[in-house]
Amino acid sequence: MKVLEQLYEGKAKRVFKTDDDNLYMVEYKDDATAFNGQKKGTIAHKGVLNNKISGWFFKRLAENGVDNHLVEVVDDDHQLVKRVEIVKLEVIIRNIIAGSMAKRLGLEEGTEISEPIIEFSYKDDDLGDPLINRYHAQAIGVATKEEIDTIMAQAFKVNDLLSKWLDEANLILVDFKLEFGRTPDGKIILADEISPDTCRLWDKDTRKKLDKDRFRQDLGDVAEAYVEVWNRLQKLDK
Ligand code: TMP
Ligand code: ASP
Repeated sequence: MKVLEQLYEGKAKRVFKTDDDNLYMVEYKDDATAFNGQKKGTIAHKGVLNNKISGWFFKRLAENGVDNHLVEVVDDDHQLVKRVEIVKLEVIIRNIIAGSMAKRLGLEEGTEISEPIIEFSYKDDDLGDPLINRYHAQAIGVATKEEIDTIMAQAFKVNDLLSKWLDEANLILVDFKLEFGRTPDGKIILADEISPDTCRLWDKDTRKKLDKDRFRQDLGDVAEAYVEVWNRLQKLDK
């Protein structure tokens, strides 16, 4: 496998073409941003940790019937993935009120809800990823009705599986963001990453935040939190 030119550089990852037209190489970076890039920093070893954590989730998800882009974790900070065209949606599931939902609805962080909430943001940095619903997405051609049905079903399935595994690691899955992609033959599969950058994870006993909120809110011990999550996941394999 030969890695060719860089195709795209995002806030936390770089994507490279390879000599196989159907495969991309993703490199995970230590860079971190928040509030649509307004806050910038680096988190020591984040790239390696997110590569491993996301690889762990995507492998398990595939084994449990959630089709996704992961081919293999290649080394510390690279993974080989299937070529997809990213659907311009951020799909968020919330199990407990936190973050922007707490702000928007004037609810206290940690408020329990009777069922999970799913929401969509239109992936456009210049617009600040505005909140939309499925009708906006369908009407402006971001995805078809059938694609949104698939995305929602897959997202809820990911929520069930992830919540269960994280519970076994004594972590609460508060909320998370997913992205989906279209394969060249038009199939919708889970893509991007699942990591403490894209999830809120709280310790079940102490409710200590073990995710990117430590960076967003300057809580300290950011890298330590990512290491803690990875250590707990690895223990589940034993
Ligand atoms: P929010 O409460 O800020 O809307 O975030 C909800 C979840 O989505 C949280 O787990 C963090 C994640 N997220 C991302 O992965 N990328 C983003 O750009 C944003 C805004 C949130
Ligand atoms: N990743 C987003 C950004 O840079 C926001 C976030 O995760 O808080 O701005």
